[in-house]
Amino acid sequence: MALFPLLRPLVFRLDPERAHGLTIDLLRLRTGTAFRPEPQHTPRLETTVAGLAFANPVGLAAGFDKHAEVFGPVLSLGFGFVEVGTITPLPQPGNPKPRLFRLVEDRAVINRYGFNSEGQEVAFQRLHRRMATRGRVGVNIGANKDSPDRIADYAEGVRRMAPVADYLTVNISSPNTPGLRELQDEGALRDLLAAVQEARAPGGPPVFLKLAPDLGEGEPRQIVRAAIDHGVDGLIVSNTTVTRPSLRSRHAGESGGLSGAPLKALALDALRRFRSESGGELPLIGAGGIASAEDAWERIRAGASLVQLYSAMVYEGPGIAQRIGRGLERLLERSGYASIAEAVGTE
Ligand SMILES: Cc1cc2nc3c(=O)[nH]c(=O)nc-3n(C[C@H](O)[C@H](O)[C@H](O)COP(=O)(O)O)c2cc1C
Repeated sequence: MALFPLLRPLVFRLDPERAHGLTIDLLRLRTGTAFRPEPQHTPRLETTVAGLAFANPVGLAAGFDKHAEVFGPVLSLGFGFVEVGTITPLPQPGNPKPRLFRLVEDRAVINRYGFNSEGQEVAFQRLHRRMATRGRVGVNIGANKDSPDRIADYAEGVRRMAPVADYLTVNISSPNTPGLRELQDEGALRDLLAAVQEARAPGGPPVFLKLAPDLGEGEPRQIVRAAIDHGVDGLIVSNTTVTRPSLRSRHAGESGGLSGAPLKALALDALRRFRSESGGELPLIGAGGIASAEDAWERIRAGASLVQLYSAMVYEGPGIAQRIGRGLERLLERSGYASIAEAVGTE
């Protein structure tokens, strides 16, 4: 891990999707060995959210381990949890390449993958074989692009993946499947959440809903109400943005979802809106532009019970989870709070 600063210039010379594929291959090499996929265990950072105990509150966001291939090695990097997916019911190729861009000067990423997925059957088999560890594995589910009934795809995902998931995420906020984000509109959202609720079996895993940062004035309120009415266990705020805050990189004009540093302010603002609408009634998971312990702490104080990141690992390397974990411990100690849970929403 200490080698990353030396390797970064070489990695950045590769096409981004190829570099990602190589990273997955390297991590996969560790799957077969005798190592145990344990997250960093620091008793002070332990926290329980939606009835699930997490070894620490720092997770790897969806999109890195799309096909559930390397969740074990990822946990051993120090993440308290990893969210695999998005996984669609049937396999599908996603959008044509190139579809992933590094915006180095902006410490950002644009992607328009469009749910390339090996499908739920393959992912189920991989997850089924996993060892029991303290590390949590969430499964992020989506709809097939050509599905005649997207709501039915989510219900199917809940039924099929629940037995192998510590939690499920209903992802209706990817900007790269045309029309998907419209499921966040009130009427459609209520129909979707009713179908998801019906698909859940008693004693099954908690269900989180993942949202876009690009929401209109009244939308957080409607979403919070619908989520509470339909028994959703938490909200992930947020996915990538389709907006383009001022960017310097030559890839700024690429279409797709923007993540990383330029998303930070937007995602934090969205989190605050959801916190103020929910008043702490629904656990929130903060994501978007988190790159340091200070960023994670700010998100926790703004109402997040857990945080997730992806883009910052591209720039900071695989040691980022441990660095944030250590930094959070220090911040917690300095603040005088006894636990992460105590610090949630205290800004
Ligand atoms: C290359 C890439 C692929 C992604 N794929 C998914 C995905 O399949 N499903 C999903 O819910 N979010 C996906 N995301 C969004 C991330 O999970 C996260 O919400 C977003 O990137 C904001 O966090 P960050 O700024 O730390 O990257 C993806 C992000 C990136 C950069």
